Amino acid sequence: MSLILGVSGSPRRDGNTDLLVREGLRLLEERAGASTEFVRVADLRIERCRGCRACMRLGRCAIQGDDFEDLMARFFQADLYLLGAPIYWLGPPGCMKDFIDRTHGYYTDHSILRGKRAALITVGADSGFEPHEAVMESWLRVYGAHVVGKARVFAREKGEVLEQPQAFESVRRLVEDLC
Ligand SMILES: Cc1cc2nc3c(=O)[nH]c(=O)nc-3n(C[C@H](O)[C@H](O)[C@H](O)COP(=O)(O)O)c2cc1C
Repeated sequence: MSLILGVSGSPRRDGNTDLLVREGLRLLEERAGASTEFVRVADLRIERCRGCRACMRLGRCAIQGDDFEDLMARFFQADLYLLGAPIYWLGPPGCMKDFIDRTHGYYTDHSILRGKRAALITVGADSGFEPHEAVMESWLRVYGAHVVGKARVFAREKGEVLEQPQAFESVRRLVEDLC
């Protein structure tokens, strides 16, 4: 395995998602000798899609100068993505959704992530795993990436997963399947 990109789509720094994605990357480094990179989407400045649809003519997003292209470059470089996000009202949080929306800039080329693999870590307090995963999976599929594994973790308060060995166990199992 070459480069693995771990992304946390949680606005809560050092929250459950950050902890689990970091643990997944640690295990991948240890077991597969992979190089990894960790990015928190909420730390980046990613403007919101304006729906101008100039991308259909330009082949790229009309909004320039924020951190979007830099994050996309990391997606292009990596072969495997470990994508974690909490459930916010049955879907990914706004910061993650803003990033996903901006990838519409590449909508004229559905092959940009062809052959890439992705594993999803979803954290929620009680419900909404299915619609959340549906957003993540359908987005990746549009651009040619395949979801090869999923982990669902129940947690609400910050750092709650640290008290839950089963949360780390599901990440360990996810990583085993990827190696
Ligand atoms: C605005 C908001 C909306 C949420 N909506 C849901 C939801 O629809 N379903 C659910 O199970 N949990 C929901 N939660 C709970 C979070 O998914 C949960 O607290 C999670 O552990 C947060 O992960 P983090 O620590 O990585 O940020 C919501 C939390 C917030 C702040």
